[in-house]
Amino acid sequence: MGDASVISGGFMSAITSSLRRRRFDSLVIGAGGGGLRAALQLARADATVAVVSKVFPTRSHTVAAQGGMNAALANVLPDNWHWHMYDTVKGSDYLGDQDAIEYMCRAASHLVVELEHIGVPFSRLDDGSIYQRPFGGQSQNFGGVQAARTCAAADRTGHAILHSLYQQNIRARTHFFDEYFALDFIKDDQGYILGALVLEIATGEPLLIEAKTTLLATGGVGQLFATNTNARINTGDGLAMSLRAGIPVQDMEFFQFHPTGIAGRGMLITEGARGEGGYLVNKDGERFMERYAPNAKDLASRDVVSRAIYMEVRDGRGCGPEGSYVHLKLDHLGSDVIKKRLPGIRETIKTFLGIDPINEVIPVYPTAHYTMGGIPTNRFGQVVMPIKKGAEEAVPGLYAAGECACVSVHGANRLGGNSLLDIVVFGRAAGNHIIEYLKEVRQHRPVDNESVEQAMARFLRWDARAQVEGQEETVDALRRSLQQVMEKYCGVFRDDTILTQGVEKVREIEARFQNVVLRDQSKCFNTARIEALELENLIDLGLATVISALARKESRGAHSRIDYPERDDLAWMKHSLYFKEEQRLEYKPVRTQPLTVDSFPPKKRVY
Ligand code: FUM
Repeated sequence: MGDASVISGGFMSAITSSLRRRRFDSLVIGAGGGGLRAALQLARADATVAVVSKVFPTRSHTVAAQGGMNAALANVLPDNWHWHMYDTVKGSDYLGDQDAIEYMCRAASHLVVELEHIGVPFSRLDDGSIYQRPFGGQSQNFGGVQAARTCAAADRTGHAILHSLYQQNIRARTHFFDEYFALDFIKDDQGYILGALVLEIATGEPLLIEAKTTLLATGGVGQLFATNTNARINTGDGLAMSLRAGIPVQDMEFFQFHPTGIAGRGMLITEGARGEGGYLVNKDGERFMERYAPNAKDLASRDVVSRAIYMEVRDGRGCGPEGSYVHLKLDHLGSDVIKKRLPGIRETIKTFLGIDPINEVIPVYPTAHYTMGGIPTNRFGQVVMPIKKGAEEAVPGLYAAGECACVSVHGANRLGGNSLLDIVVFGRAAGNHIIEYLKEVRQHRPVDNESVEQAMARFLRWDARAQVEGQEETVDALRRSLQQVMEKYCGVFRDDTILTQGVEKVREIEARFQNVVLRDQSKCFNTARIEALELENLIDLGLATVISALARKESRGAHSRIDYPERDDLAWMKHSLYFKEEQRLEYKPVRTQPLTVDSFPPKKRVY
């Protein structure tokens, strides 16, 4: 691969000294719900805030969240935050950190009401209160009968939340850099993160944004897999930036497969469809979830339902000409319920399958959906690094929130409806912590030119590489290969042989990436350049995922090892930390002590 050495020192100094620069108190990278909730907190506290987003903010992936946001409002059935906490700890297969989970579940009701007050058009019950639907893994009274905890705006809840947050940010005078791509952090020699080098997509010009704090809210990395529910932009950019800065990523082996993607295509059919009374059947018309989860049935947690579908198909009970999927049945719900509660998925099904779920069953199969792992943070949103003797410390000036962060409230398996909650709870918490930090750190620290030069060199080497002849690899072919490898070698079920092959194959792709050249060298709106940068990020995260998965010799949550079918709390109730340098792993303990209540000790997880 072309490298920094092809760019002379003098030339580089000239480039960096002529760089365009802007200064803000705070930089937020990513304009989904996590980034916008943090930015709103900051802007309302009169901090100057820049939000950098590689797409127009309301196209961020939060817009695609369908089913809703969990909070124990008890509008439909009895509920309280302690039951929500229990379900979340159990759902996480005891890998979630219980202090953070308590914090999130306690804050939930307040934050839903806050969203209501900034204009989120939640669906309503007849008495005017917020509509709540049942979702997977929810129970009353610590594992009892089904709860109804998910606050919904029909099946377009993320869309409603994102638009309201964007409007409020405009009102609060947050400064948006729309269609700018974040390249790398800028630091000083003491390790303070002081902003980032970003690329203006329209012009191809770099811009240095200096900030006293930087918050990553860049979302997950669903584009690692060929069949997924994620926006094309979900390439893990913030996670990869962190890896390059020497920060590990945590628990990457836990990738959630949503049970109901449109078969063969991956588009999300919300769990809300089962919450409204839909259910899954195999080719014999059998409601098979009754065998796998006798109590919760179709509303067992996602890892359980995804595995059940996989096994039905594997054992010859799949539907369709090749027996390759199962059916989701909604046709008994009646057109009123579907039109009122599930209009978005009806539209999706009509568009992509040409059928109407009011009358017909829907072919579904598990699809890659959510990155449970991410950048390690504490519950204040500070990014934390391990230091000697099992302790950790905050990376000064650096925060992360939302799907790119691992706080860790989802552990080995996230409950549906806890993602929209996570982004607003920890976006706000990070905003609050930054406000306190800014009271202490009043001046901008001087930026270390070397870190600017490094970031520039990584960006400029693409120009240098265009000169190399006879190299054949293209970004799109390599990206496709990576997605296919990840799907085949790191899917719902795994074992040593398949994961070992997966590691080898992703390493081969990493090596082939050295031969990628940019065919399009233009500057304006050069999406080929952006996709090359994204692919570099994806490859690092693919490696993090397969290497972490190969190392974890147990089954827990979404990580199902055929060769190690049981959960092993003695050896493996710990978080993994993957470092890019030497592609090595470390581990750290799970935080089992909540803030104010008794711990939920691990027990067998049944639904
Ligand atoms: O099924 C869904 O509506 C997805 C929700 C979630 O991932 O939280």
